[in-house]
Amino acid sequence: MILVTGGAGYIGSFAVLKLSMQNEKIVIFDNLSTGHIETINTLKKINPDICFVQGDLNNISDIENIFKKYEISEVIHFAGLSIVEESIKNPSKYYKNNVAGTVNLLNAMVKYNVLKIVFSSTASVYGEPEYTPIDENHPKKPVNPYGKTKLIIENIMDDYDKAYNLKSIRLRYFNVIGADNLSRIGEWHDTETHLIPNIIKSAYIKTSPFKIFGDDYATPDGTCIRDYINVCDLADAHYLAIKYLRKENKTDVFNLGTGTGTSVKEIFNLTRGVLGKDIPFEIAPKRKGDPAILCASSKKAQEILGWKINHSIKESIKTAYLWEDKLQKLKTI
Ligand code: UFG
Repeated sequence: MILVTGGAGYIGSFAVLKLSMQNEKIVIFDNLSTGHIETINTLKKINPDICFVQGDLNNISDIENIFKKYEISEVIHFAGLSIVEESIKNPSKYYKNNVAGTVNLLNAMVKYNVLKIVFSSTASVYGEPEYTPIDENHPKKPVNPYGKTKLIIENIMDDYDKAYNLKSIRLRYFNVIGADNLSRIGEWHDTETHLIPNIIKSAYIKTSPFKIFGDDYATPDGTCIRDYINVCDLADAHYLAIKYLRKENKTDVFNLGTGTGTSVKEIFNLTRGVLGKDIPFEIAPKRKGDPAILCASSKKAQEILGWKINHSIKESIKTAYLWEDKLQKLKTI
């Protein structure tokens, strides 16, 4: 059985869906601080065999009870906080939740002899790019506490590998977008900071124009360039990573992106086209700590894991829109 921490969250829920489609047995562990019980209910409706335990990684008995109760073979670890700005304002919360929580999880894994983990890492571990596209050997100099917590965890995992033989696959995500094509699950943050959901929300709330954070970056149209990867494609990579761990029993790291950069203005125009609506927008000051360009080389994941990208940005925007439409309708009920 696979233990999925953070399975009620955005990316975690897509991994659960993918794994359950592959007949994997799953237990989700989530404290529901940012994830939603409705997401769990939806997943359980799709597959009633999915188990859910509400608990917190900062509570050691919560974690140990999972390992006592279920026969866990591997862990996929999504649980954690991921808002860059919040991590700058409140680093203590990030070190406690992301670092201390993960150490508790790893210690329980060692104690109960579960020695395989797939970990949700991030492009933020690289910091300001020194070259592009960024491969896995790019220097790692995170510029915010969020990225630092993820790099610290990766380093801890190296030590746990050497000392306890705990094998980890770290997946460094670039910008994750899109929703389920049946609108069953999608991106659902109570405080939304991400680009595409924010553009779509501005189409609903006309009084709150979409803000482009800076238009004088050193890029062709002056707005930031990112590498946008579909959440279902990302979920596929987690399944491949589990298969790789089972077969090779090796620690490794993979970037997950498309290799193609798209600017904020380009995304805005694509979204406007998909929605077929005019969306109010304004140019706002740059956001702190936003690098001009972030683009991944995912050659390694493609070659070693056999990972493939199956969804275009346009498809991701379309599913994100249908999902947001569902959320907006729920609000009015
Ligand atoms: N942006 C806007 N307006 C918005 C929201 C975003 O102009 O309302 C811009 C940002 O300035 C940035 C781009 O859109 O240039 C993408 O911003 P997101 O907030 O969607 O994503 P980030 O690139 O900041 O960060 C995301 C995740 C992080 C992760 C990082 C890795 O949120 O957790 O990708 O690249 F670490």
